[in-house]
Amino acid sequence: MEVKKFIEEKIKEIKETVGKEKAISALSGGVDSSTCTLLAHRALGEKLRVIFIDDGLMRENESADVKEIFSGLGIQVNIIDAQEEFFEALKGKFDPEEKRKAFRNIFYTIFGNEVLKSEAKFLVQGTIAADIIETKGGVKTQHNILEQIGIDPEKGYGFKTVEPLKEIFKHQVREVAEELGLPEKIYKRMPFPGPGLATRVVGEANPERIEMVRKATCIVEEEVKALRPFQAFAVLLTDKGTGIEEGARKFGEIIIIRSVESKDAMTAEPTQIPWEILQKMSRRITDEIPFVTRVAYEITSKPPATIEYV
Ligand code: XMP
Repeated sequence: MEVKKFIEEKIKEIKETVGKEKAISALSGGVDSSTCTLLAHRALGEKLRVIFIDDGLMRENESADVKEIFSGLGIQVNIIDAQEEFFEALKGKFDPEEKRKAFRNIFYTIFGNEVLKSEAKFLVQGTIAADIIETKGGVKTQHNILEQIGIDPEKGYGFKTVEPLKEIFKHQVREVAEELGLPEKIYKRMPFPGPGLATRVVGEANPERIEMVRKATCIVEEEVKALRPFQAFAVLLTDKGTGIEEGARKFGEIIIIRSVESKDAMTAEPTQIPWEILQKMSRRITDEIPFVTRVAYEITSKPPATIEYV
């Protein structure tokens, strides 16, 4: 792929498609949505409204970071604080698919409201080639965005989607992002799932459990940074294990560290993390996060396991 040519073509295509209408893009802070938002902004300027739905399931400092990075690129990001709505939707949900469904429903309700308020006719979506392949293969359920916000895509009601990245893979998206001038922090960023930290909390994703996994993820990301894994994070289990705190036995939480190497997330192998780094992460997680008594490192490939737990 010739990156410069790809960018020129896509900007032209978006301009022609959207014409005089307005468009909206929901940023997640990940490389796909950041890249398609920047492409769309280059094509549309002020005709593009950029929103960031803060679902309370993001990594440490995510919304502030995204706002700052994009304002540095001359793009105003409107943060929609919807944390309470997301936690309410996830309350009492333990089954992985039920959690994903609840997340999707509330996300698209909130996004749908923002679309209507914005008067946009075009929705910019960061679908990449792997999403389409995995949806067809039944691994993922990535529907048409219009369907998600309650608009029949056949009828359309004048709404249309813009998916400039749908023919390319993750490593190519990173090349486009770099060429567009997105900071390294974004284009070299590890992939992060749409339903956020809810995919890394087995069982109910309530604010306390999400905070625990957020802190652990932050430690894992810090400690493995030099190894540059494809993706590394922490997972909170529902099982517990006994530990010792201040001389007393305590039945505490178990954190799993997951780190994988992959090209396109379709298959993955566990990262061979040096022992000293594993031990340091274990020590930091049990020292810095109350209630955690045990840490384990996962060594399963994809397949048979998926990368995320939920
Ligand atoms: P799995 O867990 O299916 O994940 O092996 C493959 C890659 O996709 C990411 N992932 C998602 N990304 N929305 C996304 O945008 C999702 O619902 C989602 N689920 C998983 C995951 O982090 C990994 O990189």
